[in-house]
Amino acid sequence: MQKKAISVKQLYAMPIDELAKLEKVTVQGWIRTNRNSGNVGFIHLHDGTCFKNIQVVYSANSPFFAEVSKYPFGAAVRFEGKPVATPNLPQPFEIQATSAELLGDVAPDYPLQKKKTSFEFLREEAYLRPRTNTFDAVFRVRSVLAMAVHSFFQERGFVYVHTPEITGNDAEGAGSVFTVTTDAKDPINDFYGRRASLTVSGQLHVEAFAMAFKDVYTFGPTFRAEKSNTTRHASEFWMIEPELAFADLDDDMECIESCIKYCIKYVLEHCPDEMDFFNKWIDKGVLDKLHKVLNADFRKMEYTEGIALLQKAVADGHKFANSKIEWGMDLQSEHERYLTEEVVGGPVFLYNYPKEIKAFYMKENDDGKTVAAVDLLVPGEGEIVGGSQREERYDVLKAKMDKIGNTNGLEWYLNLRKYGGCIHSGFGIGFDRLLMYITGMANIRDTEPYPRTSNALKY
Ligand code: 4AD
Ligand code: MG
Repeated sequence: MQKKAISVKQLYAMPIDELAKLEKVTVQGWIRTNRNSGNVGFIHLHDGTCFKNIQVVYSANSPFFAEVSKYPFGAAVRFEGKPVATPNLPQPFEIQATSAELLGDVAPDYPLQKKKTSFEFLREEAYLRPRTNTFDAVFRVRSVLAMAVHSFFQERGFVYVHTPEITGNDAEGAGSVFTVTTDAKDPINDFYGRRASLTVSGQLHVEAFAMAFKDVYTFGPTFRAEKSNTTRHASEFWMIEPELAFADLDDDMECIESCIKYCIKYVLEHCPDEMDFFNKWIDKGVLDKLHKVLNADFRKMEYTEGIALLQKAVADGHKFANSKIEWGMDLQSEHERYLTEEVVGGPVFLYNYPKEIKAFYMKENDDGKTVAAVDLLVPGEGEIVGGSQREERYDVLKAKMDKIGNTNGLEWYLNLRKYGGCIHSGFGIGFDRLLMYITGMANIRDTEPYPRTSNALKY
């Protein structure tokens, strides 16, 4: 048999009349379904090169009919055959097999079955789930979305910076870091001679590059040891962190909005089959939602207005798990979702937060009470982006850092304000959360190849 196979993607890309002129092609892949009526058999073959399958037909007249009838679900196979146009069938063509070869059989204890299996079950079989329709679509869109992110920033002239994964600082100052050590008994006097941890954010490191390249971004894995057991938190996730010099909070919001819209458009263009699948089986209406987002301006709302609206909602009888709404509080997901789902009905920028609940590096506003912080909230999820204008005034920043005792080892970060500093802003997009938003997948564990959450490290 001819060894060089043509991919399913290539087959679909060919004009049908040209394809039908071919005498013989070799295809290889894995069996998604195999059924026969006694005189003719049909295999749906998936080869991973695109979301679609092809149909391979084998006839009872062929010498291999009995053998191929037994090829199990999931087996790796190769066929030679003649492409034939099928104008009366749902698929545009099929391959009529002239020879068949079983490349990899499937043992009877194969955990995947043809019947629909729950996402919870598939999480336990994380090494097999990319073979299912849903995860085929999720992980191809994940790959395409990463490319979208790079194209957006590269087209705008941003420089991609690989900030380190191992660091001496806790950028967010939230204390939920994983320690890196070779010596569990004495992590501080170990390898680096000081406490080292996995990064919670590349922001501080990338800010230094913004002071040289103007517009930069980092995009990589991020680690947080928060034990939030929610559908939106993972202890390892990917974050995109752009930093823009000579930019204020309005410029920041413009960049966020353009980036999100660009990514949505890119995925819709590059993954139409996958997106149709999500729209049909995962989140009915997700396409409609995304098209609406593309055509609308994101609403901007000050935190103070958000609080007033939440207080009004409570007064009007709306029940939150936490109904004690006060200026200064950190909003919970239910509050964020009320604003984006009930009040706005789409993405909303909530900005100018109380300084006490936000990170030390954010620019203090003239009111002395708020900082120039912004979160992008979306229906179904709440926060998917968090950003701010940075405090560029040396004395103000130093006083803040001294107050919270976060200066140790961050003198270089303060120095950026001494050596040619300028106003600058940036943000962090949770890549996995953006993927959830675009695909409609409801659990972050179903958007990461091998999700990491507390008490879950099977693979
Ligand atoms: O709001 P965060 O904590 O902001 C920062 O880390 C800033 N340093 C960003 C910046 O200005 N450069 O995180 C940014 C985003 C969140 O909006 C959320 O989407 C995502 O990262 N995120 C998580 N995603 C999954 N699991 C977690 N545990 C996450 N924590 C944050
Ligand atoms: Mg945040």
